[in-house]
Amino acid sequence: MKILRTIPEVRQALDRSGRVGLVPTMGTFHDGHLSLFRAAHDECDTVVVSLFINPAQFGPAEDFGRYPRDEARDARLADEADVDVLFVPDAKELYPAGFATSVDVEAAGGESEARPGHFRGVATVCLKLFNIVQPHIAYFGQKDAQQAAVLLRMVRDLDVELELRILPTVRDEDGLALSSRNAYLSPVEREQALALPKALDVGRSALARGADPVAAARVALNGLEPDYVEVIDLDGATILAAAARVGSTRLIDNVVLKGKLQ
Ligand code: PAJ
Repeated sequence: MKILRTIPEVRQALDRSGRVGLVPTMGTFHDGHLSLFRAAHDECDTVVVSLFINPAQFGPAEDFGRYPRDEARDARLADEADVDVLFVPDAKELYPAGFATSVDVEAAGGESEARPGHFRGVATVCLKLFNIVQPHIAYFGQKDAQQAAVLLRMVRDLDVELELRILPTVRDEDGLALSSRNAYLSPVEREQALALPKALDVGRSALARGADPVAAARVALNGLEPDYVEVIDLDGATILAAAARVGSTRLIDNVVLKGKLQ
């Protein structure tokens, strides 16, 4: 596996005669990330993973400064997963002095209202990564369904020539969605956090009975403080999504009520 840090190095290293797959990440790899690497490996000849903790998608009061970082561990895991290129740019490489362009995908509800500017940062960095790597296919997780929907919209609206794959959320045995932010949780908080996936399940069952999924999920949050619990219509799919605070950690999760993101 090559570890590359500059845009010209990536452009030069890639063999475009076969299919190139890209998995954008912010590191601290877990089985959710690894499932995306595997999917890319299954259908592409070259797998590129980007590792960049994107300052542009964090609000001023958010956790950019303490976001977990362990490049050596990530490089080992990526290498073991047969990733071909790990692209690890620094902030100056992606946002040089004078940088002034951003992509704003209009989106309503959930994360877009809870974290103003967040999806602008995500869309901008992803479009840059798409332009740098020019993958045939890019891989994202259903765990961040609203992010995936924003990127599907951007690719369509701006005629970006690539396919997106959205892969299922990988969970621990007890139901908690894997997330780099789970590293912030104490053992007690880790237990409390289980109320989030449980509440979404309760909401989904409530809907199946003809009851209000949001009201049912809110009750089942069991004291976790929600930023929002919402039914959100995305392209092709309707999801029940929630963000909740467990101590100082903010977790998000969602379940599909109907359809499939596409
Ligand atoms: P990050 O949180 O590192 O996630 C990278 C990719 O892994 C995203 O597509 C995310 O949806 C997916 N993922 C995370 N947890 C998952 C899980 N439990 N199951 C399946 N997939 C999972 O999302 C980002 O980084 C950034 O916003 C990024 C797209 C890299 C732009 O900076």
